[in-house]
Amino acid sequence: MRTLIAGNWKMHGLQAQLAEIAAMAQSIREQPGDVDVLVCVPATLIAGAAAAAGGLIAIGGEDCSAEEAGPFTGDIDAEMLQDAGATSVILGHSERRQGHHESDAMVAAKAKAAWQHGLATIICIGETKAQRSAGDALKVCGHQLAASLPNMPDCARTSIAYEPLWAIGSGTMPKRAEIVEVLAHVRAALEKRFGSAARSIRILYGGSVTPDNARTMVDTPHVDGVLIGGASLLAADFNAIVDVARGRTSARDA
Ligand code: PGA
Repeated sequence: MRTLIAGNWKMHGLQAQLAEIAAMAQSIREQPGDVDVLVCVPATLIAGAAAAAGGLIAIGGEDCSAEEAGPFTGDIDAEMLQDAGATSVILGHSERRQGHHESDAMVAAKAKAAWQHGLATIICIGETKAQRSAGDALKVCGHQLAASLPNMPDCARTSIAYEPLWAIGSGTMPKRAEIVEVLAHVRAALEKRFGSAARSIRILYGGSVTPDNARTMVDTPHVDGVLIGGASLLAADFNAIVDVARGRTSARDA
C-alpha cells in the first residue's frame, strides 16, 4: 500500500500561492517516488492548482454537496469538483462538522455523491479534548466511522483520517499509543464491516503533523498516510514530509 501524503489548505490561498503547488510538483518531477501526493485546496484554486500540478500531484476539494446540480446557492457539487480538475475530496472535517453543523448522515451522503463522480474521499473523524478526557475517544470515533461511511464504499478510493480536534492546529499531538489504539480500532471496525475489501481503505493521521514529527508519524503502526493542514501551505515544508514517506511501505505490507 502506497503512503498518502495529503494537504489541506483550508481557507488559505490566492492565485499567487499556486507557485507552491508548482514547487511541490517540481519536487516529484525531480524525484518520482512511490508516494501518493494530494493537495486539497479551496474550490477557487482547483483548476489553477490542477494546471500547476501537471498531473504529478493530485488536487482535491475540501467539501462537496450531497446534492446534484440544482437550486443550492453557494454550494458546489462533486461533479463540479471533478470538472474543475479535482480527483479527491475531504469530507466531514471537524471544522465543517462544528462550524457548519454537518452530521454523520450528511457526511455519508456526501461520500456517496463523491464516489458517484469518481472522486476519492478522505472521511474525517476525531474526538474533542473533553471526550478524550472522559475516556470516550474510541466510542466517539467508532460511532462517527460507522455513521459517516456508507455501505458498499469504494474502498480503493476511501481514506479515513483520524484527526483529534485538540491536535488540529495546536502543536499538540496524541501519544503514539493513543494514535495506535484509535487506528487499530478503526481498522478492526472496517474489516468487521466490509471484510477483506476493507484492507484497501487507507487510514490517515492528521493534527499538527510537521516535517519534524513526520518520521515518527509514518512509522506508527496502522498509519497509511497523513493529512496536513498548516505544514501543507509551503512547498518547503510539504516536500520535506513527502521526502520522509519515500521508500516507505505500510507496515501492513511487511
Ligand atoms: P494541522 O491541520 O496540520 O494544521 O493541525 C490538520 C487538519 O485540520 O487537517
